[in-house]
Amino acid sequence: METVVSGIRSTGNLHLGNYFGAIRNFIKMQHEHSCYFFIADYHSLTTHPTPENLHQNVRQVLAEYLAAGLDPEVATLYVQSDLPEVSELYLLLNMNAYIGELERTTSFKDKVRKQPDNVNAGLLTYPVLMAADIIIHRATKVPVGKDQEQNLEMSRKFAKRFNRMYGVDYFQEPYPYNFGEELIKIPGLDGSGKMGKSEGNGIYLSDSEKVIRKKVMSAVTDQGPQTPNSPISEPIQNLFSIMNVVSEPDTLKFFRDRYADCTIRYGDLKKQLAADINQMVAPIRERIEEISENEALLRKVAKMGAEKARESAQKTIREVREIIGFKPF
Ligand code: TRP
Repeated sequence: METVVSGIRSTGNLHLGNYFGAIRNFIKMQHEHSCYFFIADYHSLTTHPTPENLHQNVRQVLAEYLAAGLDPEVATLYVQSDLPEVSELYLLLNMNAYIGELERTTSFKDKVRKQPDNVNAGLLTYPVLMAADIIIHRATKVPVGKDQEQNLEMSRKFAKRFNRMYGVDYFQEPYPYNFGEELIKIPGLDGSGKMGKSEGNGIYLSDSEKVIRKKVMSAVTDQGPQTPNSPISEPIQNLFSIMNVVSEPDTLKFFRDRYADCTIRYGDLKKQLAADINQMVAPIRERIEEISENEALLRKVAKMGAEKARESAQKTIREVREIIGFKPF
């Protein structure tokens, strides 16, 4: 059993891509490892410093993860800003993080391009805060996607550097982790690569049946197969890929065969796909609604998570302070 940490962005509701990519992994992982999953609300301030919806976003994400199947009795599920120890470790790690290396990270350069009027120090030190999140629990496994690999590499660098600077072997290096087989990638409905929030091509776990239908019906297609057994175009392959995870195997086979013999009607394909997505999403959507109205439950979960997480974080901070040389009088 190893310690796993993952941070969940507090902006952005969960879409099918998140669900089949990350969340189903989290749900399995929680039973195999000691897992800390937290909502990264401090991080959100680097891009979304908006008090009006900060709390609502955190609440929504918490409700969605619970609805999707994270069990707060099994995993430690908490809100980043409930852990003051994280900010302390962040401060301490900042002393050993160099401006040059931080400026060179791709995510920082991206953000400088995206928000030139708000190049704040939090953006620059984003990887330091992320390292603090992870090593505060001395985790070794971090389930993240490709886009986070460089940040995770920085975490390893900071952990190693801490050990070297203070001549200890205290922090272990955290590595990316996928549970079991390759992650399933869910494509978008716009005929392109992957489903994502920023791409605006996603189906959300909280989408109503009507919205799901509308989105699927307006998905990009092609002009239809012209000759039997012609190769499947990307937009249609994307619809098949989604169908592959939400529909019965026979359903997928039926439409693939109709594609192969050129009798497919995309309207029928989309109707079926919308119905199957809805069937998969409906129970989660209902739970999201139920949970977000259950103030007492949310409060209990957050409190319990913060208590468990702080226990582990406080131990680390105590030891780190001692290693660095702080001494009480
Ligand atoms: N940077 C991650 C993202 O954008 C979120 C995150 C913050 C995180 N702290 C973390 C992920 C610690 C894993 C571990 O998705």
